Amino acid sequence: MTARIVRTVDELRAALAPLRSGAIGFVPTMGALHEGHLSLVRAARSENDTVVLSIFVNPTQFTQAADLETYPRTEEADVALAGTAGADIVFAPSSAEMYPSGFATTVSVDAAITETLEGAVRGRAHFDGVATVVAKLLLAVLPDDAYFGAKDAQQVVVVRRMVADLGIPVRIVQCPTSRDADGLALSSRNTRLTPDERAVATAVPRSLRAAQDAFASGTREASALTDAVRDELSAAGLVPEYAEVVDPRGLEPVASVVRSALLAIAVPVGAVRLIDNVVLVPGEDDRIPLPAIEMSHR
Ligand code: PAF
Repeated sequence: MTARIVRTVDELRAALAPLRSGAIGFVPTMGALHEGHLSLVRAARSENDTVVLSIFVNPTQFTQAADLETYPRTEEADVALAGTAGADIVFAPSSAEMYPSGFATTVSVDAAITETLEGAVRGRAHFDGVATVVAKLLLAVLPDDAYFGAKDAQQVVVVRRMVADLGIPVRIVQCPTSRDADGLALSSRNTRLTPDERAVATAVPRSLRAAQDAFASGTREASALTDAVRDELSAAGLVPEYAEVVDPRGLEPVASVVRSALLAIAVPVGAVRLIDNVVLVPGEDDRIPLPAIEMSHR
């Protein structure tokens, strides 16, 4: 299937007008599509009559100019991949279309969920940028369902809060993190890792797996679980920016895991920041599968 590209909100609304009697699924992205994005498109395809994917490298959510400049841009390949995975329409607006001259509105979600974890490292502007662009994209597409990956768990918490507070009529669907065979979470930023860094980066999922192993053996103290993460990373020469156990809904820190908890980490590998997380659920065992060779390393 070939996806149709539209560049303006007016064109998008005209394209969607005759399709509104059916369900519309939406996958917002910043392009450089990988299997993780395509799994979101497939989920949207299986639950909706029309699927829209957006590609917009949103400048306002980047808090470092170099990260924005080096963010991979592969639009032609993205449009082909999106179509193959089942997208009908690719909305790829310009910056001027999204932020026309005089643009002066920011959607800002409470600090309790935006100034912790990623917000603490990247600054408040990051989630202001995400909330503002996602609100604009949702209002442009007006989908029934919007699909987000669990790797950006905090983003999903922020977006859910924002759509509930603003009364945007959309169901936010969180889909599981897609991983490479060695456990590394798929991310557009992975393409910026050198081969050596890519090998070292396998310590990131391994560190979460070490915490999951400790959890499966009965460890419940957050500090012991994050120590397991830090130890595994340290063996690979890595130091996390944060490794925290928090409530998966409100992101409040958790001292001991008595109900489901989110263990979230951010780890610089060379010039690339990798983020990843797992949900720890007492009574459930859902460990990241790692290849036997990685396990024998342990
Ligand atoms: O997750 C992303 O790729 C971006 O944060 C999003 C949701 C497309 C907003 O720019």
